[in-house]
Amino acid sequence: MTKTAELLPTQRQLLFDRMADKLEIAYNLSRRVVSFQANKDEPIYRWFKYKEGFSSALVRYFLKEYGSMPGKLLDPFAGAGTTLFVGQELGWESYGIELLPVGLFVIQAREALNHIDVEDLKTIAKNIWKDLSRMEEYDVHVKHIPITKDVFPIETEISLNKFLTYCSKIKDEKLQTLLRFAAFSVLEEISYTRKDGQYLRWDYRSKRDLSGKPFDKGKIPTLEEALTNKLHQFISDLSLNRPTNLFENFSDAQNANPKPVKYISGSCLEELPKFPDNYFDFILTSPPYCNRYDYTRTYALELIFLGKDNDQVRNLRQSMLSCTVENKDKLDRLRQFYSSIGRPDAFREIISAYDGSAAMREINETLCQLNKLGKLNNSHIPRMVKNYFLEMCFVIYEMARITKSGGYCVMVNDNVRYGGEEIPIDLILSEFAENFGYNIDKIFILPKGKGNSSQQMGNHGRSEVRKCVYLWQKK
Ligand SMILES: C[S@@+](CC[C@H](N)C(=O)[O-])C[C@H]1O[C@@H](n2cnc3c(N)ncnc32)[C@H](O)[C@@H]1O
Repeated sequence: MTKTAELLPTQRQLLFDRMADKLEIAYNLSRRVVSFQANKDEPIYRWFKYKEGFSSALVRYFLKEYGSMPGKLLDPFAGAGTTLFVGQELGWESYGIELLPVGLFVIQAREALNHIDVEDLKTIAKNIWKDLSRMEEYDVHVKHIPITKDVFPIETEISLNKFLTYCSKIKDEKLQTLLRFAAFSVLEEISYTRKDGQYLRWDYRSKRDLSGKPFDKGKIPTLEEALTNKLHQFISDLSLNRPTNLFENFSDAQNANPKPVKYISGSCLEELPKFPDNYFDFILTSPPYCNRYDYTRTYALELIFLGKDNDQVRNLRQSMLSCTVENKDKLDRLRQFYSSIGRPDAFREIISAYDGSAAMREINETLCQLNKLGKLNNSHIPRMVKNYFLEMCFVIYEMARITKSGGYCVMVNDNVRYGGEEIPIDLILSEFAENFGYNIDKIFILPKGKGNSSQQMGNHGRSEVRKCVYLWQKK
């Protein structure tokens, strides 16, 4: 590179300079407050750890700070429903879209709680092991897929099948859901695996042929041990709080008639376009990050527990927002979809906003160059990054369309770095948002980590990448 070229600002730097006054380190929003960890003392969050979730404190903070009057609230990547339930608690009419059945099952279990009599649960917890020890046959089986084969010790698998058979005979649907949820919440604990980012890590005792360093998970409880603890946790939380108040911050409990949460099972890429214009007052969400994290592998045990077979898991993986190197292009499908709903113009407008981003082009070109030089540790990273932004461009277009004028969109997301290149997710998504009618009020940077503030603000250094909460307001 010549000296002159070095001095030339890159497109990302130009974008950074243009948005610099929006970037602000938010000292009141530590990583801990934003992330799932802040929920750890709240029931249900501590029953099943959906670590990709954000905190109810974060949702509460933004709804109170920027949502003047409770109205219609949406989370298009609803996960375990944090936005929806905090919204409900504060009097909002909550809507959620979620693709992975894991989050949907947590949401269903949470709703079932409102109909549960703790005494029924106590009786079951007292008698269940006697009943199960008498059971010789079972007709419900967990059906494995290749990535979950041999995941449980044999005795555990038999107990699990007996337990599921027992659950299937319970007539009270809500109680059945809650009991199944108890088992669902201990699957990782009773297995030979541990969730570890992109994959499951396997313990050295499993029958698998393991490559790499053996991993020792320590004591693996039996189903009886793990489930007994889990049911006691449920009972003690439910006995301390009436179910309907279980998640409420009591100072907010003015909401005597909570509005039912509406959740839609599907991809937001196809569900958002179905909402009318200017429908929502507030959107609060956190999409998957562009970090190769594969939800369908991390949650493989939970998916097979919910009855998903190999083809269904693969289909889910491909329908998720592209954030793994396995995701293939969805552009043709989206083109057909927009044409089938009679909105080919919207499709063209979205593509033109994407193509119009000079910073985006620079990233795509740079990653392709790095790939050619063998500098990326997977050759599909350029495709993943390109499609991540492309799909987010569709999501942001639709979010902007369905937000009322003056309404907000709050989004939590992390920047990423590949081959040494920082990908400023915050700036590019905000640029898309501007194109589609949002005003960029702030990009709050979470004050965390090794980099000091000036490093966090700077764009291309070796500092830790920015982790942000964006605040966009519809014009
Ligand atoms: C970062 S998590 C959100 C967690 C959520 N804020 C919570 O507190 O539980 C992102 C979620 O997006 C979901 N997701 C991925 N692709 C999706 C799609 N195309 N449509 C809807 N949801 C999707 C994932 O399954 C995951 O639950």
